[in-house]
Amino acid sequence: MKNMKAKVLLVAGASLFASGVWAQEQLVRLSTPETSLVIDAPQGGELKYVYYGTKLGDADLKQIDAVRTCNHAAYPVYGMNTPAETALSVCHADGNMSTQLVVESVATTDGDKTTEVSVRLKDKVYPFYVNVCYRAYQDVDIIETWTEITNEEKKPVVLNQFASAYLPIRRGNVWLSSLYGSWANEGRLAQEPLEPGMKVIKNKDGVRNSHTAHAEVMFSLDGRPQENVGRTIGAALCYTGNYKLRIDTDDSEYHQFFAGINEDNSMYHLQKGETFKTPVLALTYSDEGLSGASRNFHRWGRTYKLAHGDKPRKILLNSWEGVYFDINQQGMEQMMADIESMGGELFVMDDGWFGGKYQRNTDNSSLGDWVVDTRKLPEGIEGLLRDAKKHHVGFGIWIEPEMSNTTSELYEKHPEWIVKAPQRDPVLGRGGTQVVLDLGNPEVQDFVFGVVDDLMSKYPEIEYIKWDANMAIMNHGSNYLTADNQSHMYIEYHRGFESVCNRIRAKYPDLTIQACASGGGRANWGYLPWFDEFWVSDNTDALQRIYMQWGTSYFFPAIAMASHISSAPNHQVFRTVPIKYRIDVAMSGRLGMEIQPKNMTEEEKEICRKAIADYKMIRPVVQFGDIYRLVSPYDRLGVASLMYTSPEKDKAVFYWWKMETFYNQHLPRVRMAGLDPAKMYRVKELNRIDNEPLPFEGKAYSGKFLMENGLEIPYTHKVDYHKLNDYASRVLYLEAE
Ligand code: DGJ
Repeated sequence: MKNMKAKVLLVAGASLFASGVWAQEQLVRLSTPETSLVIDAPQGGELKYVYYGTKLGDADLKQIDAVRTCNHAAYPVYGMNTPAETALSVCHADGNMSTQLVVESVATTDGDKTTEVSVRLKDKVYPFYVNVCYRAYQDVDIIETWTEITNEEKKPVVLNQFASAYLPIRRGNVWLSSLYGSWANEGRLAQEPLEPGMKVIKNKDGVRNSHTAHAEVMFSLDGRPQENVGRTIGAALCYTGNYKLRIDTDDSEYHQFFAGINEDNSMYHLQKGETFKTPVLALTYSDEGLSGASRNFHRWGRTYKLAHGDKPRKILLNSWEGVYFDINQQGMEQMMADIESMGGELFVMDDGWFGGKYQRNTDNSSLGDWVVDTRKLPEGIEGLLRDAKKHHVGFGIWIEPEMSNTTSELYEKHPEWIVKAPQRDPVLGRGGTQVVLDLGNPEVQDFVFGVVDDLMSKYPEIEYIKWDANMAIMNHGSNYLTADNQSHMYIEYHRGFESVCNRIRAKYPDLTIQACASGGGRANWGYLPWFDEFWVSDNTDALQRIYMQWGTSYFFPAIAMASHISSAPNHQVFRTVPIKYRIDVAMSGRLGMEIQPKNMTEEEKEICRKAIADYKMIRPVVQFGDIYRLVSPYDRLGVASLMYTSPEKDKAVFYWWKMETFYNQHLPRVRMAGLDPAKMYRVKELNRIDNEPLPFEGKAYSGKFLMENGLEIPYTHKVDYHKLNDYASRVLYLEAE
């Protein structure tokens, strides 16, 4: 406890009565540049939550007890206060279902950019331990928290509930922002006041965890959520598997927030000597509203979580919507030539390139048979790599290594490798034949690793992998796990997944890997340490993407959000959106194309060519800048708008998308944000289609004016009569003089 470090302050205070023993109050403060979290860890007493919010100075910390209304445990456990919601509930080796934890010690460790605090708790009776751990960053406003649960009892302890963390949030006018959705409609924003009762946000897919609800939330503490003002707490559970977030608004002064692995059907037998580590919950606090909390997540994510978060992403063409399963050498080369001609940097060949005995012409066969289909590609991957080189683009390839089809050579050889209960026929997925491989099984892990390893060792020039996952776990059962550990199936699947990813990253640290999962099924910080980006959605309709990308941007930075220009009419919603608008939306994320270029007009190609060139100029601002969301599409004001500013505030990119069109419509004038009020910014419109420049084109305005007044954006484009349509959008590049 004497180990005083720069970012952690331990304060010994008054004696108090806790958990039946007199204990010395011991406040532990963890700080980031702008925030603090305080817990009370009295030796021999109960670990208590004290404070989370704006950075707390020494004077206020000393007097915090006098203004403390929260007397909540920092990690509530079941058995000694049974009516309350708990984070941990276990059955001890002797059948005792109650747990009572007291503080044994506090350890602090200073890393290069972090400080970790681990509070070791012990059951008062049993050799059963919980380390409640925190990691505070010195250069980003994120505090991570998780637990390590250790059984030293004589026999296994059953973990029935094992949340990563608990946070009490003071009642008042607290609103919750969360994401929901479904396939092709991911990342929808829901905002609601927290009312009495229990709000549960959960996932049980088994494989993917962000199609429907997301494992991240924000709490706006000052009433209806606002983007750029208001105290906001953000929380992101970093996990690849099933999760459960609970917010219990009971009769106390606090909303009780719990986050962790979804324990449903996942009861865990903790062996003697074993430690169970729960996934990290990343917390942030900002008094700059929802966008402020997003910026904190984005900075932390880019710096510490996302694979290659400091490297600009290439502009790519993906073959899926262009040719679907119709892969052939000539077609691939034509797409490479086209993306090269438009200035793109990478070509990705999607589904349909593999299969031996069974050809992959649709989605009902061949997963697992990762050999090149030489009927389609007689010159193999070698031929494609040669063409990619010829066209000066990188080459990427699609795989779905966690899956098989019952129509496949793999399944014929290894029917025991699939997730399924021994005596049951499998419930089948995509194409009526898809099955999930049992990643808990080390042989399956070797196989999945081998899919990547074989490709990469044979063709080291491959620079990008699109890793897909198109099925949920529909069957409970593992051939590998013992009968009494069947409830470990989901957890072991994801341990297996992590282990495979670690092996891949150890051997192929430079490879770019996209997490795709039937679109946006894997947008979670749990994946991103191994993945460079995720596919936001299989829905590429620009208008609907505005809603989805808006919600997704709450927690994930533009650099990670793959956003592609696709064709009109759109293949999912059949909407005909002009190319300018499609580009303007795609350019707000990691720009790419998902289209058959040979079906585009020369004029469309020329617009794309210019847009790609301009994107290269704004790429650092979009991919590494700070987001300021300005007008939400969910507010239905007829327009949506956001911007990115460079960290130095010398450059910014402003996006304005009209969401609907009515005659004599009145749209709000959008005030900008995040600029330096004293700087003068020169305005340049990108992707211009109008016959004449905007009135403010080339003129310079102060950051103060732009943030207090904004620019009057014309509601329509001035184009020739035959080009008029009901869409309007603008991208403005601002550069400080
Ligand atoms: C689902 C993905 O989200 C699509 O982009 C595409 O790769 C298909 N799978 C291929 O089967």
